[in-house]
Amino acid sequence: MARNQTTAAEFVPAQRSLPTLRAAVQGCRGCDLYQNATQAVFGEGRERAHIVLVGEQPGDAEDLAGRPFVGAAGRVLDEALAAAGIPRDEAYVTNAVKHFKYKQRGKKRIHDKPTHYQVTACKPWLLAELDLIRPPVLVLLGATAAQALLGTSFRVTEHRGEVLTTPYARWTFATVHPSSVLRAPDDDTRREARAEFFADIAAIAPYYRQVVAAESGEPASAPP
Ligand code: URA
Ligand code: SF4
Repeated sequence: MARNQTTAAEFVPAQRSLPTLRAAVQGCRGCDLYQNATQAVFGEGRERAHIVLVGEQPGDAEDLAGRPFVGAAGRVLDEALAAAGIPRDEAYVTNAVKHFKYKQRGKKRIHDKPTHYQVTACKPWLLAELDLIRPPVLVLLGATAAQALLGTSFRVTEHRGEVLTTPYARWTFATVHPSSVLRAPDDDTRREARAEFFADIAAIAPYYRQVVAAESGEPASAPP
């Protein structure tokens, strides 16, 4: 870590609840990204969610709406969750970085990948969310989210589909980011990428269902 690394830590309130965190993040100056964004985009969903999904950072649509995954990538994610039988409003959805980073190109704001420095600065917010929710199932969408929690040598492509053991959840999974499906260069590749992403989410669903069944007192179906 650089000696002058700034961090969100001092902006994270000591008294923790999702509403206090969500209010406080608007005042965060933990890195430079607050300067050009419309607002911080905090996670959204139930505090008692059984599954948390973590993306990279808000995009253009999310920056304007103030809500995570409401743009094109969010639609891919919603469809994958729906196909797997996981209602989006039962999940908690958030990002590794809370402010939109972009490059201005004429009238367009083009997504710009956050640096390791910025991801590290923002990590206290994500850790605070995970600490409050303590989800049984955690899904890291793409390299930024995965590397934020699992280290920069982690490779999503080498570990997709694996059940990972981490301090953050009983079961942790890493898969590609849904926007990678949209970036596929042609229709065939896009179909394939979409099917693989859907398959990854579908393979996670039995873990989620097991927790839901246990909570509702139903006899658990065969363990995944
Ligand atoms: N991509 C992300 O990683 N997060 C969002 O909220 C939207 C797009
Ligand atoms: Fe704070 Fe994260 Fe926004 Fe940087 S990106 S200002 S650390 S909330």
